[in-house]
Amino acid sequence: MADRLRTYTSDDIDVHFNAPRCIHAAECVHGRPEVFDPNRKPWIDPDQGGADAIAEVVLRCPTGALTFTRKDGGGEESTPTHNKVTVAANGPLFARGDLRVETPEGEVVLEDTRVALCRCGLSQNKPFCDNSHLDQFEAGGQLGTHNATPANGATALQIIPAENGPLLFRGPVTLTSADGATLETAKCALCRCGHSSNKPFCDGTHRTIGFEAPGGLAA
Ligand code: SF4
Ligand code: FES
Repeated sequence: MADRLRTYTSDDIDVHFNAPRCIHAAECVHGRPEVFDPNRKPWIDPDQGGADAIAEVVLRCPTGALTFTRKDGGGEESTPTHNKVTVAANGPLFARGDLRVETPEGEVVLEDTRVALCRCGLSQNKPFCDNSHLDQFEAGGQLGTHNATPANGATALQIIPAENGPLLFRGPVTLTSADGATLETAKCALCRCGHSSNKPFCDGTHRTIGFEAPGGLAA
């Protein structure tokens, strides 16, 4: 699904909203309800808050649906120095860091700092979560077994959605379970068909169930 970027502007800050990436986690609505009001048109009004406060709330958006451009000389979003992937119970993989989504052929198709990645297999916007897991996917969010690969000096986290297969991660990353356990590795394959018995890691089940998903980003 193509990006649908809309920009909401004030003298001090532009807020950009990419609707297909929003899964209504509502960090924005709870954080600054006077600026982010889904019952108003336009639903984002940057004139209703200070640029620093708006930027702080935008950075809480776990999916990257919200981004900003400062026009008042304030600081732009910085790229985190540490890559983290949090496994949500019954939900997606929330990644933060220096993220590069690549095709299996090695083309970088997205550079970002925040993404929510489908792990139930049902999203219509793969590799991103679109909330299709709601009421349809049960997975506790614990970390299965994995032989960690030591870091090799790379800093970025490559995320490679394999065609009809898992999400391949290349680069240093800390995986965090829904209950706070952590594991560090520089290479892993995370299940995105929803059926691995060793979640969040791929165990090859995608082959036996005939999982279908495009490599890289969906067209
Ligand atoms: S914080 Fe991001 S994902 Fe959550 S509702 Fe706001 S825009 Fe959507
Ligand atoms: S992607 Fe689910 S088992 Fe491989």
